[in-house]
Amino acid sequence: MLTPLIAGNWKMHTGIRQGADLVLKLRELIKGVTDVEIVIAPPFTSIYHLSHLVADSPMQLAGQNLHWLKEGAQTGEVSGEMLADAGCRYVIIGHSERRAYFHETDELVNKKLAAALRAGLKPIICVGETLAEREAAQTVSVVSTQLRGALAGLPTGALKDITVAYEPIWAIGTGKTAAPQDAEDVHNALRELLFELLGSAAKPVRIIYGGSVKPDNIDSLMGQPNIDGALVGGAALKAEDFARIVKFKAAASEHKA
Ligand code: PGA
Repeated sequence: MLTPLIAGNWKMHTGIRQGADLVLKLRELIKGVTDVEIVIAPPFTSIYHLSHLVADSPMQLAGQNLHWLKEGAQTGEVSGEMLADAGCRYVIIGHSERRAYFHETDELVNKKLAAALRAGLKPIICVGETLAEREAAQTVSVVSTQLRGALAGLPTGALKDITVAYEPIWAIGTGKTAAPQDAEDVHNALRELLFELLGSAAKPVRIIYGGSVKPDNIDSLMGQPNIDGALVGGAALKAEDFARIVKFKAAASEHKA
């Protein structure tokens, strides 16, 4: 059993003060949670300030994106080394919004993945299909191509710290979640592909689900054997909701009692 990872992607929301309020609330609400890894991905401008507020808490910070170079004449970009310097341990790569609005390809995701590893960051690599692709029964082939492209040519030994996030595009920000069993089927296919590509280095790799994860669906998603956590967008901006998602285990044991 892998330690679950619950990550909150704040996207382009929160200024420094708002982000700090959210983190301070979360600190109280998730006190004592030790059996889940908790990551938040604020906008770049808040990372350094928040690094002081998460320092002695279970939360770790992630960047939402990075440039593949260490430094250079790349106006407006931020490198993995800069994210690490500001306090990040993780970085999200290839989110569907980056693929759709900033034309990120699998090749670019691959370069960014190599750059994240070079900077000592743990990458969360996003894959996911559109509604049209799902309806055409292409889900597994689409996400497999994305994952193969992301990992291409990288040394398998370096990939044990990666996390794969399966995020069906039609479920992101729409209130529609994949049915737990449908998500599980895709996770299972991704797990098999990881073992095919990485061999035993695939063992510690978590596959997390994203797309309208909320307090009322987290428990059934986490009940699936191949869902190792969640990448949460909208609900990560509400302290109570995110804390409830993080505490899915406590809810499961209350259920049993
Ligand atoms: P959502 O976003 O939870 O608001 O659907 C998820 C994501 O984009 O990572």
